[in-house]
Amino acid sequence: MSRLEVRDVTVAYGSVVAVRQASVSVEHSASLGIVGESGSGKTTLAKAIVGIEPVRSGEILLGGTPLTQRRSVQQRQWVQMVHQDPYSSLNPRMTVRQTLSELLAVHRIVPRSGRDARCAELMTTVNLDPSALDSYPHQFSGGQRQRIAIARALAVEPRLLVADEPTSALDVSVQASIIALLRRLRADLGLTLVLISHDLAVVNALCDTIAVMNAGRLVEVAPRERFFRDPTDPYSRTLLESVPRLSRHRGPPLTALPPPADLPDQPPLEAAARRGPGQSE
Ligand SMILES: Nc1ncnc2c1ncn2[C@@H]1O[C@H](COP(=O)(O)OP(=O)(O)OP(=O)(O)O)[C@@H](O)[C@H]1O
Ligand SMILES: [Mg+2]
Repeated sequence: MSRLEVRDVTVAYGSVVAVRQASVSVEHSASLGIVGESGSGKTTLAKAIVGIEPVRSGEILLGGTPLTQRRSVQQRQWVQMVHQDPYSSLNPRMTVRQTLSELLAVHRIVPRSGRDARCAELMTTVNLDPSALDSYPHQFSGGQRQRIAIARALAVEPRLLVADEPTSALDVSVQASIIALLRRLRADLGLTLVLISHDLAVVNALCDTIAVMNAGRLVEVAPRERFFRDPTDPYSRTLLESVPRLSRHRGPPLTALPPPADLPDQPPLEAAARRGPGQSE
């Protein structure tokens, strides 16, 4: 199982302590949203969870297993990250097939004979047409590139996906489809999800628990409903009140917002192509 437990974690860059004694846990297949202003330490905490940034003190466990600094290949496989800007994280000189096949080979996920089929399956999973496997990253739109980045993360069959502002570089309509995709993956694959966003609407749509970071500290961790209805930390209140639509005082009550499940996911491109021009869903 893949319960994530962050215990009293401190992360520093030299003398700059970016995360101070953070403790939070996420149940198997549940989703944690981390919000907070720029520089509060969200990405640093994400990197510590993924194992990119060393932990100065404290512990990170997945399914009860401590993820030490020198993670085994298998432990690295368990936790994958999706970054804000998929363009800089994808190799521009490799086709999608090359990128995915390389991972499948290095991590020995499927034998050579099964790699093409698995690549096609991964594309379908993220609602992209497998016929695009031989294209390069620049040939895709921003939203499609983010789908490829998600497919790449899924290629190694992770238990935990950490997404750092996965939608903030995208148009609003595309954002909604990526959120819907992440929600579906969580349900279908039983993925545990840590989502970082400065956008409360995004975490509201996707996360069951909300954690607020302020100056390196997790100042509040609360179930979504309670967080939006009755945040206890003064800084959480300030955050909520700065977003009129989600504010307790000025916006509609939370129950008036569309339930998360109502956001549309994009149909597979293949299906869209079969319908032909002029035909709608
Ligand atoms: N590589 C680094 N070297 C030194 N200091 C860093 C480094 N990366 C981040 N910091 C500092 O650590 C603190 C937390 O940064 P971090 O990137 O985790 O914040 P964040 O909450 O993700 O911000 P944003 O919302 O802008 O992405 C900041 O003070 C930042 O300047
Ligand atoms: Mg960040």
